[in-house]
Amino acid sequence: MSKNIDSILQENRVFEPPAEFAQKARVTPDKLQALRDAAEADHAGFWGDLARNEIDWQTPFTVSLDESNAPHYRWFTDGKLNVSWNCLDRHLETRGDKTALIFEGEQGDTRHITYRELHAEVCQFANALKDNGVGKGDRVIIYMPMTPEAVIAMQACARIGAIHSVVFGGFSSQALADRIKDAGAKMVITADGAHRGGKIVELKQATDEALSDGEHSVEKVIVLRRTGHDVAMRDGRDIWWDDAVSGMADQCEPEWVDAEHPLFLLYTSGSTGKPKGIQHSTGGYLINAIVTCQWVFDIQDDDVFWCTADVGWITGHTYVAFGPLAIGATEVMYEGAPTWPDGGRFWKICQDHAVTIFYTAPTAIRALMRLGDDIPNSYDLSKLRLLGTVGEPINPEAWIWYHEVIGKERCPIVDTWWQTETGAHMIAPLPGATPLKPGSCTQPLPGIAADVVDEQGNSVPDNAGGYLVIKKPWPSMLRTIWGDDQRYIDTYWPMFDGKYYLAGDSARRDEDGFFWIMGRIDDVLNVSGHRLGTMEVESALVAHDKVAEAAVVGRKDDIKGEAIVAFVICKGERPVGDAADAMIKELRDWVAREIGPIAKPDDIRFADGLPKTRSGKIMRRLLRAIANNEEITQDTSTLENEAVVEQLQGKA
Ligand code: WTA
Repeated sequence: MSKNIDSILQENRVFEPPAEFAQKARVTPDKLQALRDAAEADHAGFWGDLARNEIDWQTPFTVSLDESNAPHYRWFTDGKLNVSWNCLDRHLETRGDKTALIFEGEQGDTRHITYRELHAEVCQFANALKDNGVGKGDRVIIYMPMTPEAVIAMQACARIGAIHSVVFGGFSSQALADRIKDAGAKMVITADGAHRGGKIVELKQATDEALSDGEHSVEKVIVLRRTGHDVAMRDGRDIWWDDAVSGMADQCEPEWVDAEHPLFLLYTSGSTGKPKGIQHSTGGYLINAIVTCQWVFDIQDDDVFWCTADVGWITGHTYVAFGPLAIGATEVMYEGAPTWPDGGRFWKICQDHAVTIFYTAPTAIRALMRLGDDIPNSYDLSKLRLLGTVGEPINPEAWIWYHEVIGKERCPIVDTWWQTETGAHMIAPLPGATPLKPGSCTQPLPGIAADVVDEQGNSVPDNAGGYLVIKKPWPSMLRTIWGDDQRYIDTYWPMFDGKYYLAGDSARRDEDGFFWIMGRIDDVLNVSGHRLGTMEVESALVAHDKVAEAAVVGRKDDIKGEAIVAFVICKGERPVGDAADAMIKELRDWVAREIGPIAKPDDIRFADGLPKTRSGKIMRRLLRAIANNEEITQDTSTLENEAVVEQLQGKA
């Protein structure tokens, strides 16, 4: 095993489930053992039983798992269902008047929407989609603020069998255009704008830019009025949301689709090439979304669940748009920034809406921790009973702060490891049954065959680092990469005869069978819990007409996890002094326009050349050492121009 995969972190504290929590939890230690035993005894049957019990099927399935075309695994193949029916209609009799969504806008406006109301709005919008020519299998891009309408749009697509692809509202028009084209979308659903950090994000303007070159298949654009500021509307193409739903019936018979029918595409970064359109299924996706809401979040009927993720990420799909609704929960949705108007916003929302289960990212926890304890201490957080994290490893210091200052040592913390590709939690504690170790995502869930292996696919000994793999298919696994099935096979099934799913993370398992995620094995950056390919940022940089070459690496960052460092070679003279400062600003703004503000390099350095090996490959390890201010141990004697190392270090 290579050196960079060796394990370094050591953390020994163990936190048992608090007795009061454990008593009321859905899953007790005995139940957990029974689930593990059942999965062990009959893997496909275990998932089949859960899918039969937890999902309402229009046509029941007889086949749980079809492995005949591996690695294209198919689940519940001959069953028919509808996700929107499972999230809405089936609750109407038992909890029609229960609040489904509690929405808070950044400017303080709030809305409570019951299951009955949500059902009616989804049906109306589904009818509007059909009225505008969208049908089963058509792709619909959703580029929206974090408002209930984003969920309504996703649910409406699911209802009619259209395949949605949500594009994060923080992405630029260029990123949006790429996704519109790759998906071959027929429609874009957007808004005039979104409120974020006290400013307006110009969603409609970006949509217009994305569609400006005419090389796309979008016929209609539906525009939600959110900010109310003036935006251009194009005759024949653009329709206001209100006009689209006006006069539409509030009933809409769901399209019953095969379990394998694609529910959505979600684009995510890989190490090379353009973002991958991860394709998820209907039945398999839904069952993992449901059981993880029950097992890991322990969501019960009187809980108020709040997942802070935007619907533009997988977390906002599984734990905002689908999972909580499928189990009839009440959930909070917040439109804006965590620090608007001040660093108490998250805690104020927890207090005002009596949030009991709170799920966010380590980067947010670290940023809010920096602001001190007085802010959270001035809010009533007594309703909280469970906390969660996702997106990157949480450092033990932040874990302890979250536990003590936010959870008052009363709330377990579920550290959930999963990916866009896995659809739902894979490795995570069951809070009433699993002891916690700060920094560990603990153990694989029942029915998830995670392991740490070497290059040959052999399990490595305890505490040795290795590749994180999943050795058996699971229902919510990705089905393919949209339009590029070969890339699906090459990326996820390259080793071990295509039998194990390769997650792309390195990990170690300790003597208690607890997993510790160590980082990516490829060139994927994890900036504030969001995945970005170094290649994407490099391509954006070299698209600038003054840039000849660029290399991008990650640097450890106390708050964001990783910061982006770009080494840039300009055409012509190397900029220095004021010219360098001006160029840095220009390039940062450029990348924000090309990809989005999250991809802005934190640090840009200019040199006359990049350090390369004899075969012309960029010496990324050397660049990483330079970016992290580490001592340089690599052999630089073969470099054509040794001065570039000093330039890149900022010494020359
Ligand atoms: C990282 C987010 C450590 C990991 C749901 C993974 C984590 C990538 C954790 C997926 C965690 C996610 N501990 N690392 N609890 N959760 N990761 O697709 O590197 O945006 O491969 O999905 O985030 O990011 P994605």
